[in-house]
Amino acid sequence: MIRASQISKHYHMGDSTVRALDCVDLHIPQGQFVSIIGSSGSGKSTMMHLIGCLDHPTSGTIEIHGQDVNAMSEKRMALLRNNEIGFVFQTFNLISRTTALDNVVVPLMYTRKSFSTKPAIQALERVGLSKRIKHKPSEMSGGECQRVAIARAIVNKPKLLLADEPTGNLDTKTGTQIMDIVHELHAEGMTVVLVTHEMDIAVQAERMIEMKDGKIVADTAVDAARRAEILTLNHEAHQSLFRKKSLHSPSSKPLPPQMEAK
Ligand SMILES: Nc1ncnc2c1ncn2[C@@H]1O[C@H](COP(=O)(O)OP(=O)(O)OP(=O)(O)O)[C@@H](O)[C@H]1O
Ligand SMILES: [Mg+2]
Repeated sequence: MIRASQISKHYHMGDSTVRALDCVDLHIPQGQFVSIIGSSGSGKSTMMHLIGCLDHPTSGTIEIHGQDVNAMSEKRMALLRNNEIGFVFQTFNLISRTTALDNVVVPLMYTRKSFSTKPAIQALERVGLSKRIKHKPSEMSGGECQRVAIARAIVNKPKLLLADEPTGNLDTKTGTQIMDIVHELHAEGMTVVLVTHEMDIAVQAERMIEMKDGKIVADTAVDAARRAEILTLNHEAHQSLFRKKSLHSPSSKPLPPQMEAK
């Protein structure tokens, strides 16, 4: 559960002040799938950084899973981030000189002196990358790199997944594969907040928030029937693309339950 009350983030640039976020209230219940849209500079990433405890607001309060972020030390914030929040970024943010496995192991190392690599291997299997464990980012496709980033985000089994334009650098087919994984994680109970510029992706969430000039200007529940229709269409297009190329789709399993109209 995320509860932000009257949060602002202001940057002072010489004589002027940038109001990246301006007195925003936001409540996201546990398990909800929310998308955030809005033009460039509207404050989407700033919002993600604040609810992801990567930064403090200039004013206002944020509660994550019942814990007041303002009252936390940097160390406590880092722990919360590592254990309860998974991040996925447009540019993957992987360590380039090391393998997929070593990238996914990082959050495990953070809190434990000794650890097993088993959860990291499982997380990589989970995103369909068991055959790429020893590959470095330069030896993988963009979609594979993003799947490594998702494996890293979920290795500590967080309750909240924050994804800032996770499909922004990917083609449609690969983006659909990434969204399939996001839907599966949501179906398992994870809260998902996803920033996107693409309406096709935004309407896959249960709730869509639009930002403009650091404010929330629209907050709507996505019509379940429309959502199901788009998900089915996307999935069919995805499958037929693979059929045309006579390939096996890695996501040729049935739609996750949340993809059906409620
Ligand atoms: N560290 C910073 N210092 C100064 N201004 C900043 C900083 N970070 C963001 N801003 C400003 O805050 C505003 C919101 O930025 P933000 O990155 O949240 O936008 P966004 O909606 O994510 O945009 P995009 O779609 O391009 O990623 C922008 O005007 C930006 O220039
Ligand atoms: Mg951004």
